[in-house]
Amino acid sequence: MSTSKSGRYKLLITAGPTHEPIDPVRYISNMSTGTLGYELAGLANRKGHDVTLISGPTSLSVPKGVKRIDVQTAVDMEQAVMKNFPKADVLIMSAAVADFRPVLTAARKIKRSGVAGSLRLLHLELVENPDIVAKASEMRDERQAVIGFALETEGLLANARHKLVSKNLDAIVATQLRPKEKNRGPFGDLPVDGAILEKGGRSQTFRALPKKVLAARILKTAEAALAARLKKLK
Ligand code: CTP
Repeated sequence: MSTSKSGRYKLLITAGPTHEPIDPVRYISNMSTGTLGYELAGLANRKGHDVTLISGPTSLSVPKGVKRIDVQTAVDMEQAVMKNFPKADVLIMSAAVADFRPVLTAARKIKRSGVAGSLRLLHLELVENPDIVAKASEMRDERQAVIGFALETEGLLANARHKLVSKNLDAIVATQLRPKEKNRGPFGDLPVDGAILEKGGRSQTFRALPKKVLAARILKTAEAALAARLKKLK
């Protein structure tokens, strides 16, 4: 890990969803598009930081000057983060990691003729994926900052605060999903509602914030978290 004196840092950013394969043609995933993580990566690069982006499957193009590592599953993402985090100053974990994966991935396409009984049920057994950001913050050294995210449908601030503490983060970006509200994020290019909570207790809430603006606020938060850590170590 190397931190330059000019305030230019090595940023490791994760973005997008993960795909957890069920069989060769199907997977479990979520609605994440990767927009905010890619926005952040491009902005950080333009600000002079050295950016590595670990990306789940998305249709977005890699921002100029950013090194992208493509992954598919949560386990792939965990390996890529564990490999690259020791060299980074900050981890910004914006990826929407699937919390569960099928215990077994069928080698062949699951056929309809295989389902059982009169209810025609197919049982899919899932196992919990590793919590990547929690693992990274456990293994970090004191110079490294870790920023996490939380997507919530209810209890936004309480859930985010809990994650901030339990995952030992420097800050958390909490975004609110209102399933019935149209034209609000957090997926894709839509503006988002939410809050940034910092370890020291500072917080800022936002409403209908464009992702470009949110990305700038997150970058500032990450830079400040890192600067605070470096100051403490002096
Ligand atoms: N995260 C992670 N590894 C996982 C799941 C989540 O690193 N297996 C990270 C996300 O990238 C995010 C933070 O943890 O930065 C919070 O993710 P979220 O899905 O909101 O929280 P969970 O811990 O999965 O809790 P829950 O889904 O129960 O709300």
